[in-house]
Amino acid sequence: MSVAVIIVAAGSGSRLGAGLPKALVEVGGGTLLEHSLRTALQVTGLEQVAVVAPTSHLETVTELVHGVRAGCVVHVVAGGADRTASVAAGLAALVDGLGDDTTEPRDDSDTSDPSESTDADPQADLVEPQVVLVHDAARCFTPLEVYERVADAVREGWVAVVPGLPVVDTVKVVDERGVVHSTPPRARLRAVQTPQGFVRSELEAAHASGISATDDAALLEQLGHQVLVVEGDPSAFKVTTPADLVRAQRHTASLST
Ligand code: CTP
Ligand code: MG
Repeated sequence: MSVAVIIVAAGSGSRLGAGLPKALVEVGGGTLLEHSLRTALQVTGLEQVAVVAPTSHLETVTELVHGVRAGCVVHVVAGGADRTASVAAGLAALVDGLGDDTTEPRDDSDTSDPSESTDADPQADLVEPQVVLVHDAARCFTPLEVYERVADAVREGWVAVVPGLPVVDTVKVVDERGVVHSTPPRARLRAVQTPQGFVRSELEAAHASGISATDDAALLEQLGHQVLVVEGDPSAFKVTTPADLVRAQRHTASLST
């Protein structure tokens, strides 16, 4: 099964408050987006990547993507008003039966038929299910092993797979007044990360269904699919607040010593 990666990078980063979209903030000699892209490009069986960019920074992101050496097609498309809409834009940018080995990133305006530029049989990829990994640019230090673990589980037959870590705090469910309703057993809780992996056709069907959810795995859950949690990694933390950026700086510093 070939793999496509969607990197969602279209958020504004309001909680980080850096004055520019979060994915374009620099840490450790590169933007969050570049760090994410460099790892994603190493995934086994990778056929194409869709980078979903803020509409306001489409050109900047396209230039930045051109600067990263890629062994596959990298589409750059504009994001939507929320993360779900951005994932949908990334999904729509993916091409069927690509199979070529161009190293040139390309943008949304490239409407050429990819099947014309390949000598592989385009039908082969059209019938074979594909793995789509949806990744937050903001989880820029997710190790490659996590991508591979998620993709492998989809290849093994799971329709939806998310990486997750055991929760260290006790979690309470509260009512609208803040009064505790229940205490779920901590051993059964997982804090989930990205990349989240899916059978492409099932993720497309979920997005076409019109239902909404906070993440793609929850969309699939609502449609009755089983979602598998595989082991995540502490390095896959999301840069959300200024404190997370400090953590990211420390992380890169620890790698270079
Ligand atoms: N994202 C996106 N399109 C949106 C909103 C979010 O592509 N309309 C992406 C972000 O770029 C990020 C990931 O989804 O990589 C996770 O979202 P989050 O951490 O919430 O990022 P922001 O929405 O940018 O941050 P904030 O909520 O603080 O504004
Ligand atoms: Mg957000």
